[in-house]
Amino acid sequence: MSWKTKPSGTMKVPTRSEPYCTAQMIARWQSTTLPKYATTHGALMPILHDVQHTYRHVPYQAMIEIANFLKIAPSDVLDTVSFYEEYTLEPMGKCIIGVCHTFACEVCGHQAILDRVRQRLGIEPHETTEDGAFTLLTMECLGSCDTAPVALFNDVLHEKLTVAKVDQLIDEVLAQKSQSTSHT
Ligand code: FES
Repeated sequence: MSWKTKPSGTMKVPTRSEPYCTAQMIARWQSTTLPKYATTHGALMPILHDVQHTYRHVPYQAMIEIANFLKIAPSDVLDTVSFYEEYTLEPMGKCIIGVCHTFACEVCGHQAILDRVRQRLGIEPHETTEDGAFTLLTMECLGSCDTAPVALFNDVLHEKLTVAKVDQLIDEVLAQKSQSTSHT
């Protein structure tokens, strides 16, 4: 057997001329984020959160920029991004639907909820619609077992969900999307 090595050390990182970490972000991190932490490593997660929130993912170029800013190894940034589910390498949808699939929700009909979202949006769990409007996720217990089945639409928890309620929530997001499109 022979070992095959992956040339990750020489991998080409997709780049753009404009930095992801803007001057405003750097100024904010310097004035409000760094002073809260004893070490620069400590500030990594909130900074990643900021980048994820801004771009809906953490691009490789941004990881290098963050590493340069914090004076840490880019591999430390990549390790953190790949370890935590809240950071993603691919852009997430503007509306992230997280359907709980743990025991109480499973027993109380999470499958019908999940199937309805799949059917309405034409995506499977961990996929994003082509227009970038929705990402569908399945999630572990959201801590609201007594009101199962539940799902998050972005950060808002919806309890005792029904298929009709799912339709209503998706319709609301679509209506907001078409409103914002008509204003641009
Ligand atoms: S199992 Fe779904 S909230 Fe606990």
